[in-house]
Amino acid sequence: MGMESLRGQTALITGSARRIGRAIALRLADEGVNIVIHYHRSCEDAHELADIARQKGVQAWLVHVDLNPPDAAEQVIAEVCSQAGSLDILVNNASIFPPDTLDDITFTALMDNMRVNAWSPFALCRAFARQAARGKIVNLLDSRVTGYDWKHVSYILSKHVLWEMTRMLALQYAPQITVNGIAPGLILPPPGESEAYLDRLVDTVPLKRHGDAEDIADAALFLLTSTFITGEVIYVDGGRHLRETVQFHAQVPHHE
Ligand SMILES: NC(=O)c1ccc[n+]([C@@H]2O[C@H](COP(=O)([O-])OP(=O)(O)OC[C@H]3O[C@@H](n4cnc5c(N)ncnc54)[C@H](OP(=O)(O)O)[C@@H]3O)[C@@H](O)[C@H]2O)c1
Repeated sequence: MGMESLRGQTALITGSARRIGRAIALRLADEGVNIVIHYHRSCEDAHELADIARQKGVQAWLVHVDLNPPDAAEQVIAEVCSQAGSLDILVNNASIFPPDTLDDITFTALMDNMRVNAWSPFALCRAFARQAARGKIVNLLDSRVTGYDWKHVSYILSKHVLWEMTRMLALQYAPQITVNGIAPGLILPPPGESEAYLDRLVDTVPLKRHGDAEDIADAALFLLTSTFITGEVIYVDGGRHLRETVQFHAQVPHHE
């Protein structure tokens, strides 16, 4: 057993037109995986990515769905199955990252984050599992799930939920389907922010630099090719979660 070749399999990567999702999609295409590129607003980037993937010799399909409505996941899987047939791999990458604090968090913001970052990946896992005799799922978490993100409270709460769901689903879907998480740390500045955002935070990383999207794609490929790992989370964060964990247990809130 050990590592499995993914050649000829089909993967759905949500929110994959740009950034980390794109890097994962390209890495899978390089491995001979046919890819379903899900996108919401990034129509042009999604089409460009599909062309690049096809040039690599794999099949590529596009699915355009807003993941905000609670029944969106069923729609995505139905569309995927009508275009690509069945799926072997699901990567839940799409997410929102709006700022809020415990002082200004609203019920609406919390529900927005829960819908896109927790409910929709969960519902996608469930719809995926219904159509796959066996398969692999990777959920994108956040290295701050070992502690808190005091400036993105709704967001980090939704990632905590997805972390727990990852472990519950790993048990629920064993032995046919593995379910794992990747917890990125400081990788890309949030959409709209410049590199200065990363520079400002680099001292919070024990390895004293930020990672890049390819580091996440490496971890995704590892989890997707492994045949004996489930319910696990790989922190790809230069050791940043260790710092969070120490502070969490010391009950010292910090605000970066
Ligand atoms: N960047 C980092 O350093 C970092 C750090 C920690 C964790 N992460 C996690 O890693 C993953 C990838 O990060 P990223 O920074 O590359 O993500 P991102 O650019 O913020 O978002 C990825 C994609 O999610 C899609 N999306 C957002 N709202 C959606 C909706 N309502 N319906 C459908 N799609 C929607 C967008 O697709 P469209 O563009 O097509 O609208 C977007 O391109 C995320 O889960 C993130 O939480 C990232």
